[in-house]
Amino acid sequence: MREYLAQYPVATEVQKLWEEEEARGQQTVTQEEEEEDLTDAITGRLYRPLSEHDTRRLSTHLQEKWETANPGLSVELPVDGHRQRVISAVQSSRVVVIAGETGCGKTTRIPRFLLEECVRGGEGAECNILVTQPRRISAVSVAHRVALEMGPALKNCVGYQVRLESRPPEQSGGALLFLTVGVLLRKLQSNPSLKGISHVVVDEVHERDINTDLLLALLRSSLKENPDLRVVLMSATGDKQRLSHYFGGCPIVKVPGFMHPVRDRYLEDVLREMGLCFLLSYDVAPDIDLIADVIEHIDRHGEPGAVLCFLPGWQDIRAVQEKLEGRRHFSSGSQMIVPLHSSLSVADQQAVFQRPQVGQRKIVLTTNIAETSITIDDIVHVVDAGTHKEQNYDPRTKVSCLDTVWISHSNVTQRKGRAGRCQPGHSYHLFPRKQLESMTPFPIPEILRTPLESLVVQAKIHSPNCKAVDFLSQVLDSPEQKAVRDAVQNLQDIGVLDKTETLTPLGERVACMSCDPRLGKVLVLSAMFRCVLPMLSVAACLTRDPFYNSLQNRALVNKVKDALSSSSFSDYLVFIRAVSGWRRVQQDGDREDRDEYLEKHTLSKFSLRFINGLISQFSENLHEAELVSRANECQRHTSLYNEHSNQDELLKAVLLAGLYPNLIQVKKGVVTKGGRFRPNRTCFRTLSGPVLLHRASVNRGKEDLPSRWLTFFSAIQSNGNVFIRDSSTVHPLALLLLTDCDLSETGRTVLFQALCLSVGTWELLWELRTSIQTMLYRNLNNPTNAIANSSQDGKLISLLVELLNNTDLNPFAHNSDSEVD
Ligand code: CDP
Ligand code: MG
Repeated sequence: MREYLAQYPVATEVQKLWEEEEARGQQTVTQEEEEEDLTDAITGRLYRPLSEHDTRRLSTHLQEKWETANPGLSVELPVDGHRQRVISAVQSSRVVVIAGETGCGKTTRIPRFLLEECVRGGEGAECNILVTQPRRISAVSVAHRVALEMGPALKNCVGYQVRLESRPPEQSGGALLFLTVGVLLRKLQSNPSLKGISHVVVDEVHERDINTDLLLALLRSSLKENPDLRVVLMSATGDKQRLSHYFGGCPIVKVPGFMHPVRDRYLEDVLREMGLCFLLSYDVAPDIDLIADVIEHIDRHGEPGAVLCFLPGWQDIRAVQEKLEGRRHFSSGSQMIVPLHSSLSVADQQAVFQRPQVGQRKIVLTTNIAETSITIDDIVHVVDAGTHKEQNYDPRTKVSCLDTVWISHSNVTQRKGRAGRCQPGHSYHLFPRKQLESMTPFPIPEILRTPLESLVVQAKIHSPNCKAVDFLSQVLDSPEQKAVRDAVQNLQDIGVLDKTETLTPLGERVACMSCDPRLGKVLVLSAMFRCVLPMLSVAACLTRDPFYNSLQNRALVNKVKDALSSSSFSDYLVFIRAVSGWRRVQQDGDREDRDEYLEKHTLSKFSLRFINGLISQFSENLHEAELVSRANECQRHTSLYNEHSNQDELLKAVLLAGLYPNLIQVKKGVVTKGGRFRPNRTCFRTLSGPVLLHRASVNRGKEDLPSRWLTFFSAIQSNGNVFIRDSSTVHPLALLLLTDCDLSETGRTVLFQALCLSVGTWELLWELRTSIQTMLYRNLNNPTNAIANSSQDGKLISLLVELLNNTDLNPFAHNSDSEVD
């Protein structure tokens, strides 16, 4: 310590920081000046309004171009007959809701009608239309389709922009840009009133994803600030009245679609038809065999025409595909099986539009992506598993998880309708008819299923100058104000927001992480302390439990956890070891080794796959936050970011730093209900009161905990008790060095006693604490690649590791006068 502090005296470090801060302050001023310059939302270049003369010239040029090209429409769609109604409505009201059945031509036709009307009317230069899509795949494929329909002379007026991929229209003026909602939210940051844009068409509003809901709130204020802006909301199903009310009672234009009748069957009907008895139980998890049976039944006995089968996730799609391909009936090549989900490339997704050969039947296995955003015309049969994946948040455990859940009534209707586009069709719903009654009428908006802390962070990104409570009271479905205030307070406690509710430099990084902000903070810190991979595993396992937990094998799981924990006293090290062991057999072992490993450790293969996906996603997030140079560096054992990944005490310390103030103090001596004092019993307290350890934690019932402090992530309330679900002992030095814990007189005394420190040692540690704080502060403020191999930081972290590893942390066992330095 002395050596390090002599080389890098704290006073100098703090001084340097001040100077950097000052320099940055000056930079911010120039940046603010630059912000006067808006970004052109179409091209992404600097926004420069045209002179009146240039406007007239461009409008005339566009008018002539369109007259010459005179683009037609490839096929007739129901919306074509309503063209004038739609245009007039948009001309006479600044906000319009357009409701029309899926496939009637809303997405591909309406933006083009609006553009064409302006251009042919000689006002093309002022017409710039943004059309949002909830998914990148539809933004790209629809842009291609519209460009194709407009023909070679005009196709450069159409473009798309999705994350990491952009093909904007050639120029601003007479332009049509399809983009994801996320991209538009980002554009709004650099051009909040959307100067230069004439229309925003918000498509698929009924999906009620969180980004679309936030966008609607922001557009309401853009409309006030920009008098030239118009908004068109397009929706297939859902509550149009509410939407109209939200925009001051704007008009609703209904476009009737054309639909053939569809005969529906439910589980009992399907089974009877197939000559099977009724299943005693059915489950939200899809029954792969039953689905394959139904598809085979349709293929053998149903009339000609394509089959569209709705499944919750891509894993289910693959399972059904494998099952079908393994059956003799499907080996003749008289079927064409096409998977469709959003992780396919755009090119691969185009396969679903292909017409099969004569005599061949097309079978499309899809997620809910084909419910509204992709229309396949030749479908005659729909098989509906009745479920989809949904991000759900459990406020008790603070854990949010992608679950398979029953769809809503409106989803069922929508799926059924997919069968009647070209001729009368058939739908097979694989749940009992009576299940319909217990389904919700509409899907629950995502904004109400999102953890509030994450929601507040998003609100802060998109509307930094508005108090979170105020902004969130403006959205279509607002969360409770008191809960929002609590979330803001929690974010302030962990340093993501400052006192004025502004995102701190830490908060800016945490905002890139698609997980709970506390876990996000752990990940940000893990990059700086060079132990990324294990922390990615912990964050993923706290999102999805890797163990096969059931009532029956609880004892077994606990035994496995105990063995994995060994002497670490940490549920997080259990996760880290389980995942790293699994990654090892994945890499080096064969199938048998893998199965053996899973069985021996009561681990779920599906959960582990999911966890692997999360690890990759969080790695991407760290890259986006500019904390690592490349996403895949996070998972490379020899990378700098994993230099200290096998230092268990450091891992626990970093977890504490991220999760603090989630701290438990362990005390000896309990007064029982009968009033008797038991000196050897342990009790636990957090800041808010006494707690118990949950039986799932490896620390439950341990009398010999080697530290007086534990950190934790999730707690559950039950029968008036608070149970801590996961915990880890932490080194008292970590508490001193890595948190801003109370070091007033009392706090100091507690730590003093615990560590048996002399005054000299205390002063050294105090300086070291400041050094670590300055390092973090410096790195968080450094705009690119926080740990740009600074040797000074390397030394400091190594010193910390050494201190944690070589200092006794058991104040219970020893009360000697030993010193640390
Ligand atoms: O938006 P909405 O559901 O009302 O319809 P749309 O997406 O505009 O689709 C209208 C028609 O264009 C449908 O019949 C689609 O099958 C077809 N289409 C297509 O063939 N290829 C695309 N990439 C997009 C749409
Ligand atoms: Mg559409």
